[in-house]
Amino acid sequence: MYKVNENYLKLPGSYLFSTIAKKVSEYSESNKDADIIRLGIGDVTRPITKTVIEAMHKAVDEMGNADTFRGYAPDLGYSFLRETISKKVYEPLSVKVDPDEIFVSDGAKSDSGNIQELFGADNKIAVTDPVYPVYVDSNVMAGRCGTYDKDTEKWSNVIYLPCTAENGFVPAFPEERPDVIYLCLPNNPTGTTLKKEELQKWVDYANENGCLIIFDAAYEAYISESDVPHSIYECDNARNCAIEIRSFSKNAGFTGVRLGYTVVPKDIKNDGASLHDMWARRHGTKFNGAPYIIQRAGEAVYSEDGQKEVKELISYYMRNAKVIREGLKDAGYDVYGGVNAPYIWLKTPDNMTSWEFFDYLLKEKNIVGTPGSGFGPSGEGYFRLTAFGTYENTLKALERIKK
Ligand code: MLT
Repeated sequence: MYKVNENYLKLPGSYLFSTIAKKVSEYSESNKDADIIRLGIGDVTRPITKTVIEAMHKAVDEMGNADTFRGYAPDLGYSFLRETISKKVYEPLSVKVDPDEIFVSDGAKSDSGNIQELFGADNKIAVTDPVYPVYVDSNVMAGRCGTYDKDTEKWSNVIYLPCTAENGFVPAFPEERPDVIYLCLPNNPTGTTLKKEELQKWVDYANENGCLIIFDAAYEAYISESDVPHSIYECDNARNCAIEIRSFSKNAGFTGVRLGYTVVPKDIKNDGASLHDMWARRHGTKFNGAPYIIQRAGEAVYSEDGQKEVKELISYYMRNAKVIREGLKDAGYDVYGGVNAPYIWLKTPDNMTSWEFFDYLLKEKNIVGTPGSGFGPSGEGYFRLTAFGTYENTLKALERIKK
């Protein structure tokens, strides 16, 4: 009999957002008239902008013409997109990222899950807690996380770095040295972030202790404060220890289009092994490149008009964030995030657990959010609302909560 990968069997329940979707669909099945407002998964609601749509139409036409048709895309990404990213994303930050250090993919979620293939089997990972579930789950699947304790909701071989209101959502350095540290900043789920000097300390720690940082910058476009870094490479010597993951989903509304990229600097070396070359090898073996039409769409995001449109999208969602933040504060909640990120993190009232509050909001207010405990043990007693809904629904949701 063949054997299955038993690591999968260790995973508790289903993926967080699948569990929520199932609960909501069961509820709406038996409450057909309920006007449910979805502020759970961070999925965008605004359409793709005009300039990007035009670029896609043009690329579609090219695919229908024998002279301009393209087959397999280069597995690491078309040079027109890699060069545009290097010039339009990193040059303005005065950061050196060469086009051939940028690996274009079908999205940040895939890269976040796949990047662990570069780590040694017995490497120990550290995650901020709460955290985007993909980092831990993908390492569990690879057999790196040990056993799961249902009571503490922790994996035996994972180092948790609690981020709560008590420490201002700034993780402390762990007592035990990790091999790989995942940082998502601005943070999903708490919507908080680190200032540049705080992030520099993590880069210094990683360089001093021989750690690799996986820096997920999917929400950088939402940064509004000037002392918050948009890229980890703004920190000194980050090119020696950090991989950066970026997304087109949250800034340009590509959640249904799929495009992202990962920067692996050539400077990251370990015993002569180059992570850059290893990631290129992985792409070459397992990926045939993001579609031409979508990469042209990505390029259009960085055109002058594309950038104007993207800024409007972000202002739209950040107006929602303000409505949620201010509305919850008026209603007496303790609220965090929502200033440099499209997520608002709140303390559940009356010592309710995160899932109790989920049920209360769903059943009493017909609002879907995300229970904080779904992101890790330190998320218990917290709850996440997303600013990615429509403005009208966001206003309506806050009216319901305030009542
Ligand atoms: C979230 O809601 O946390 C995100 O939408 C999930 C993702 O980006 O995959």
